[in-house]
Amino acid sequence: MTAVSATPFLDPYEPSFVADPFPALAHLRCHAPVHWSPPLRSWVVTRYADVHAVLHDRQLSADTVTPFYKAQPSETQAKLSSLMRYLGNWLVFKDPPDHTRIRNLTSRVFTSRAMEPVRANAEQITAELLDGLQPSAEVDLVEAFSNPLPAYVIMDMLGVPRELLPDMKYWSDEIKLFIGSARSVPDKYDRARAGVEAMAAAFSEVIDDHRGVPRDDILSLLIAAHDSDDGRLSDDELIATCILFLFAGHETTTNLITMASMHMMMRPAQRERFLALETDGEIEAATEEFLRFDGPTPSMVRIAVQDHELGGQTIKSGERIYAMIAAANRDPDAFDRPDELDIARPQKRHYAFGYGTHFCLGAPLARLEASIALPALHRRFPQMELAGEPEWADGMTLRGPLKMPVMLGPVQRSAA
Ligand code: HEM
Repeated sequence: MTAVSATPFLDPYEPSFVADPFPALAHLRCHAPVHWSPPLRSWVVTRYADVHAVLHDRQLSADTVTPFYKAQPSETQAKLSSLMRYLGNWLVFKDPPDHTRIRNLTSRVFTSRAMEPVRANAEQITAELLDGLQPSAEVDLVEAFSNPLPAYVIMDMLGVPRELLPDMKYWSDEIKLFIGSARSVPDKYDRARAGVEAMAAAFSEVIDDHRGVPRDDILSLLIAAHDSDDGRLSDDELIATCILFLFAGHETTTNLITMASMHMMMRPAQRERFLALETDGEIEAATEEFLRFDGPTPSMVRIAVQDHELGGQTIKSGERIYAMIAAANRDPDAFDRPDELDIARPQKRHYAFGYGTHFCLGAPLARLEASIALPALHRRFPQMELAGEPEWADGMTLRGPLKMPVMLGPVQRSAA
């Protein structure tokens, strides 16, 4: 590691950074774009061009879990073994050739054709959730709407009974302590391990049940990929993929819906413009702007497998790099007025879904859900207001409120 003068402006443990990381990231982008962070013991990369370079670079490994595991003392390794058994088999942490094999086997489940029945189901779930809300009441938007919508959609796609939602949410939150790089939870590994074990057991049952009665859903496609003659998806990979789809399939989209709604409530002029949008294309463009402006994945992590030069710094083999998507998406060298939310902004590639080999597999699903949920919610409750400060989750790679109290306000008659 090459010494770089520490900047006082990135303290990832500061609550104000968790709630609003953008000023500190802007400072880094300007003054130390490839920055060694002592608290993170990692490099932090903030410019659009450099984040692109990191995500694009096949010399950097996405397998951040194996080096972490190997660096632990043996008693900790024993505690973490089941976490590794499943999370170590997540596509997102795999490098080629395993990544290529698993991605080829699993990517077919998110084709446009496969999305068609999902659209109808997402519309129906949205309508049911909105019908269940009491006008003018104060609710936690996360619990009442943003979480159950994508959770039910992905659970239905995976054949998981809906009554398991509270369990799935609980286990998922525990896994998030590990995946989201939570910084201030001392027993996070024990809790994440318990969450992953419980979810793996639940999926084993669902898979057994599906084998008896195959259905027209993505779990049946995944089981077929496992059961093919050459057993191309192993037992652990099958369960790991189910857990990944369940986890990735709702945590992020929940946060997108919540944060987009928060930003619209804080900017009434943008909400008015959003409410006036008429075409699907305009709504999809607005969704992209919400993702750019404040997306659910502020950073992605890579590990150098050999010494590496970036931005005049030498990144040594084995060192970790946070590619700060949140900073890249607000780089003034890439976007005009980057700190303004402009739902009609001309489209330009943002990195909220990553880039390159690991580009988000579920992006079509996330875009579909947000494009259904946001107009439906805000047309139904066009005067919805924040009723308190959001309670932010503590994490470097996942961002979003755990709770967000809102006053729904009256129902818009035409949308009722
Ligand atoms: C707004 C919602 C979402 C955002 C912002 C998001 C973001 C991302 C990002 C940034 C990556 C790249 C990871 C990396 O480069 O290391 C990724 C990968 C992935 N996402 Fe998403 N995601 C979202 C929704 C979803 C959904 C709905 C699913 C559905 C199951 C999903 C499944 C995946 C999977 C399987 C990968 C791994 C792809 C690979 O490694 O080849 N995501 N996502």
